[in-house]
Amino acid sequence: MNQQTLSMRLEQVAAHVPQGARLADIGSDHGYLPAALLLRGAISGGVIGEVALTPWHAAQRTVGENGLQEKLSVRLADGLAAIEPGDAIDAISLCGMGGETIRDILASGQARLSGRERLILQPNGGEQPLRRWLMENGYRILAEALLQENRFYYEIIVAERTGPVTYTEQELYFGPLQMQARSPAFLAKWQRLLTLKHKALQGLPHNKTARIAQQAEWIKQLLNPTL
Ligand SMILES: C[S@@+](CC[C@H](N)C(=O)[O-])C[C@H]1O[C@@H](n2cnc3c(N)ncnc32)[C@H](O)[C@@H]1O
Repeated sequence: MNQQTLSMRLEQVAAHVPQGARLADIGSDHGYLPAALLLRGAISGGVIGEVALTPWHAAQRTVGENGLQEKLSVRLADGLAAIEPGDAIDAISLCGMGGETIRDILASGQARLSGRERLILQPNGGEQPLRRWLMENGYRILAEALLQENRFYYEIIVAERTGPVTYTEQELYFGPLQMQARSPAFLAKWQRLLTLKHKALQGLPHNKTARIAQQAEWIKQLLNPTL
């Protein structure tokens, strides 16, 4: 992967960035996603945010070697603190971090959000608490994708602030749009997770099983809606 060739996962994220947007890619590591989008003319510029020194240096290198420094600012900052009021950001990507981490970055940086940005989120696990934060803060989920790369399943959640929105507990758990679309990858993921839940239930004392048993029940209903 580099600034020309993105992973399948980041290509799917890229597909949800509005044409011509000013993108803030927070937790960018090498900065490949914004650099690739800028080189393709798909964004007009933006910000790369990194909290750690080594990836921040790597992102600076990517931007410098490709002559993008006029349009992409690389900032060493925690979460949304990388975004400054004059940046006119209209899309924010947060990819390759746990869902709880993404949620905490959004929650603690809320003062930096205008509420007009499209959020393009690619959590590695922790999707349910992330969707709950989106719902509780008036963000509607506009698109969801699930892809399998190597042995891992990756989810992409695209959301915009539209005002009050309500999702059921199952929608927060499975993803409201994925539940409707029932793609083969989605059903395969939950079939596999059901097997893992059953294994976990066997190894746990009875007083610790309630939450997992509930989830296993939801998964069974999802996979066999006629039961
Ligand atoms: C696994 S990498 C993902 C890189 C890239 N976004 C991707 O999806 O390929 C996660 C990156 O997020 C950065 N990160 C973690 N917490 C952060 C925070 N609070 N603010 C900014 N960057 C953060 C880490 O330093 C790391 O470089």
